[in-house]
Amino acid sequence: MMVQRTFSIIKPDAVNRNLIGEITARLEKSGLSVIASKMLHLTTEQAAGFYAEHEGKPFYETLITNMTAGSIIVQVLEGEDAVAKNREVMGTTDPEKAAPGTIRKDFAVSMQKNSVHGSDSPESAAREIAYFFNENEIYPR
Ligand code: PPS
Repeated sequence: MMVQRTFSIIKPDAVNRNLIGEITARLEKSGLSVIASKMLHLTTEQAAGFYAEHEGKPFYETLITNMTAGSIIVQVLEGEDAVAKNREVMGTTDPEKAAPGTIRKDFAVSMQKNSVHGSDSPESAAREIAYFFNENEIYPR
């Protein structure tokens, strides 16, 4: 097993419903450690830069609107197979299809308001972590 880092966002819909603690507890209970964390309110430019790969897709404008609608928590998570583990705990993008016990099944409202983001590969994780954190803001266990 390989110790890895991944990147997580608790999205505005979840922050607005006071779910920061519950979501973080689920991530930690799965064996992941929070090694960096901060609260931000993204500008449209910051959100567009983060989601640049989705520009032109039908949901792009909605995605940017929802991600700038309120505060978010950005976190770096560390643990064995962190990328896959985080996505397992999150559940699928569409909460209606998410497995029982996952964050999205239990907390997400819709595809538009699906409570969390998690990197989809180690390469994405490295890029996304660097988008929000300097290395001196990260505290490995
Ligand atoms: S894709 O095309 O397969 O890469 O898309 P996917 O990975 O499923 O989703 C990419 C991000 O866009 C969000 N998304 C949406 N937002 C609003 N409306 C609709 N219909 C929609 N479909 C997908 C999805 O939640 C992903 O956001 P992140 O933050 O990466 O989880």
